[in-house]
Amino acid sequence: MKTQVAIIGAGPAGLMLAHLLHLAGIESVIIEARSRGYVEGRIRAGVLEQGTVDLLSATGVGERMRREGLLHQGIEIGFAGKRHRIDMQQLTGQAVMVYGQHEVVKDLIEARLHEGGEIVFEAGSVSIVGFDGASPLVRYEADGMKREIHCDYIAGCDGFHGVCRPSVPANALTIYERDYPFGWLGVLADAAPSQDELVYMNHTNGFALFSMRSPTVTRLYLQCDPSEDIAHWSDDRIWGELLCRFKCSDGWQPNVGRITQKSITPMRSFVTEPMQFGRLFLAGDAAHIVPPTGAKGMNLAIADVRVLARALVDFYIGGSTARLEHYSQICLRRIWKAQRFSWWMTSMLHQFPDANPFDRRRQIADLDYVTSSLIAARSLAENYVGLPMDEPDQWNG
Ligand code: PHB
Repeated sequence: MKTQVAIIGAGPAGLMLAHLLHLAGIESVIIEARSRGYVEGRIRAGVLEQGTVDLLSATGVGERMRREGLLHQGIEIGFAGKRHRIDMQQLTGQAVMVYGQHEVVKDLIEARLHEGGEIVFEAGSVSIVGFDGASPLVRYEADGMKREIHCDYIAGCDGFHGVCRPSVPANALTIYERDYPFGWLGVLADAAPSQDELVYMNHTNGFALFSMRSPTVTRLYLQCDPSEDIAHWSDDRIWGELLCRFKCSDGWQPNVGRITQKSITPMRSFVTEPMQFGRLFLAGDAAHIVPPTGAKGMNLAIADVRVLARALVDFYIGGSTARLEHYSQICLRRIWKAQRFSWWMTSMLHQFPDANPFDRRRQIADLDYVTSSLIAARSLAENYVGLPMDEPDQWNG
């Protein structure tokens, strides 16, 4: 088989890239190791920046999101038993949309298949070769047969544990990373959200986050030990800890309901530089990871492929490789700012086991500052709704 762009991974990055390329008349094939049911059911974060919302809408895949997504004009930051609202709409003129990542994935898969696009699910033994030269090749197995795709470019959109990044010679990449001494225990509960906006809560027992998925489903997270066995967290223990951490002087608390899903995720910050090697371009989690506190993961993935799609359009339609050559540089400038924001939100809101009394006082000062200074709140809001996707650069014609 032959195509113009072979895309590894049917997550938000790979699917959105295929969609954007299709709109420009560029051919692609998506190769995904998992089944369609698996990728459509994979529960991840669910906050879309204004720029992501606008891109989904402008490219014709935002219809269900606009109908079912929940528009949020503010968030709350809590500490010392009190919640403080950050009015993003007033501070920035923008808002975010709460809409599960797997819903975005479902919408993009449906659009892709409707457009006649090809997605190979459950591809076995996926490998990529030849991208250091002019003839990249993707190998995989389907229906017990070995297959090959010849292409001009490969987009590595296969996540942090995917095959693309490790296929690059290790000495060609520099990795910048930081692990955190905690993880998030996330639950989905059949309970009506007890208020309309998210609550990021700093508590002496550890961070807690109140979020939602629909008018009947609450999404909650608790800071926990990353190596903890989920079996040690009974539903009663989870609710006990959630109600304790969210306890507020005004009596607000989440509604309790049946827990339908629970899991523990570790937290890390990670950046690969550059995000390109020869004719392989890494996008999304394959190139970078943020801790989820800033809700940036999927948004960064979408921003990467927006740049990559433009660069490929410049090449196929305009005959210029300038933007492809500067892909990493264009993406990394914005990625590092999102890294900084995610690290800062994480540092401000979690309990660090090695923190001394000075660190704890400084953390409370950070929270007090950001919830009492309009200028500090505005900076938080600007980053939360998402920095501009189009920063002026010499490749923006
Ligand atoms: C979520 O709803 O899953 C969510 C919301 C905000 C975050 C992270 C996750 O910062």
